[in-house]
Amino acid sequence: MSNLFPTYARWEVEPERAEGSYLYGKDGKKYLDFTSGIGVCNLGHRPAAVEEAVQAQLKKFWHVSNLFPVGIQETAAEKLAKAAGLDLVFFANSGAEANEAAIKLARKATGRKKIITFFQSFHGRTYATMSATGQDKIKTGYGPMLETFTYVPFNDLKGLEAEMSNEVAAVMLEVIQGEGGLHPADSDFLKGVENLCKKHGALFVIDEVQTGNGRTGKPFAFQHYGLNPDIVSTAKGLGSGFPIGAIIGKESLKEFFGPGSHGTTFGGNPLAVSAAIATMDIIFNEEFLANVNQKADFLKSCLKENLQSLSIVNEIRGLGLMIGIEINQSAAPILADLRAAGFIALSAGEQVIRLLPPLTVTEDELQQAVEIIANILKEKVKTA
Ligand SMILES: Cc1ncc(COP(=O)(O)O)c(C=O)c1O
Repeated sequence: MSNLFPTYARWEVEPERAEGSYLYGKDGKKYLDFTSGIGVCNLGHRPAAVEEAVQAQLKKFWHVSNLFPVGIQETAAEKLAKAAGLDLVFFANSGAEANEAAIKLARKATGRKKIITFFQSFHGRTYATMSATGQDKIKTGYGPMLETFTYVPFNDLKGLEAEMSNEVAAVMLEVIQGEGGLHPADSDFLKGVENLCKKHGALFVIDEVQTGNGRTGKPFAFQHYGLNPDIVSTAKGLGSGFPIGAIIGKESLKEFFGPGSHGTTFGGNPLAVSAAIATMDIIFNEEFLANVNQKADFLKSCLKENLQSLSIVNEIRGLGLMIGIEINQSAAPILADLRAAGFIALSAGEQVIRLLPPLTVTEDELQQAVEIIANILKEKVKTA
């Protein structure tokens, strides 16, 4: 019997080691990994620069607490704020914790309670972030949720307008709904949300836990649309696998997160922060991101050329290296077939194959991936 609570329906592949774009299973097989640990290992597995930075910090100190000034937190905050075009950072340990901080700050700063989020959104598993999440299946058995969260259809500006008032503390959204089915927001919708927030004095909060840190070809996905959010949350790719989350906010919010108003023992842990600095130094770089965009274009054109015409494929969508292939049936059995063929991908919602390759993936690896996916989908069409 396992002594782990069975909260995860685990796959059959048990990793032995991992390097770059590949996982090596205990079964002796090599797998091309397009999950990146669910959007975390954006530089591939065990990037050397991050390993070196963490090794160096391991020899200095591992943990001292946030009672001390920690210089590398200042360095990391400066890099993160600069990349997001914002001012102030609070470090947490995960995406949910970052969103939790965003929700607390939004309520405190506005003195209002109501937070609007969107159907199919995913913001985390704590009580506040589960309450913010617009999916019933995440909440089953855990009620009652926190009060004053309201959900409206994604990409429906009129629906949002109907819920807006001077009682709204914040509107929170993902630029691409990741877990909920890989649904990108429309550009007009995003600008409309920002304008409605401004009009009603609500904060515009963008959850970049999955879309941030270069995943879409910009440091943060909101930057594709020229948006001006008040708070951005992020996590996942920020530490290349070391647990770290953060909110990045405007200077005007400073007074609401004063000493003693929020905190965490491990947030901003020196090992995680040293990993984040090394990660940001690579990703928040024009040349690196130009290369990500080039590879994203290459992947999209390969997918379109090889998959678009298959009857099983409904749509290929996404931004940068965050791509969804929506099919006309459950994705889970196809993902199992892909694993058997040496390729690991994720689902998003029920019917979407989600590709989150490392941003360091090569064109060769992208081509290999498309070939494997095309073969498995063609096989499915044949046997249908
Ligand atoms: C958009 C988004 N927000 C929040 C979270 C929660 O992050 P974590 O699992 O680190 O708590 C996730 C995780 O998938 C996410 O995709």
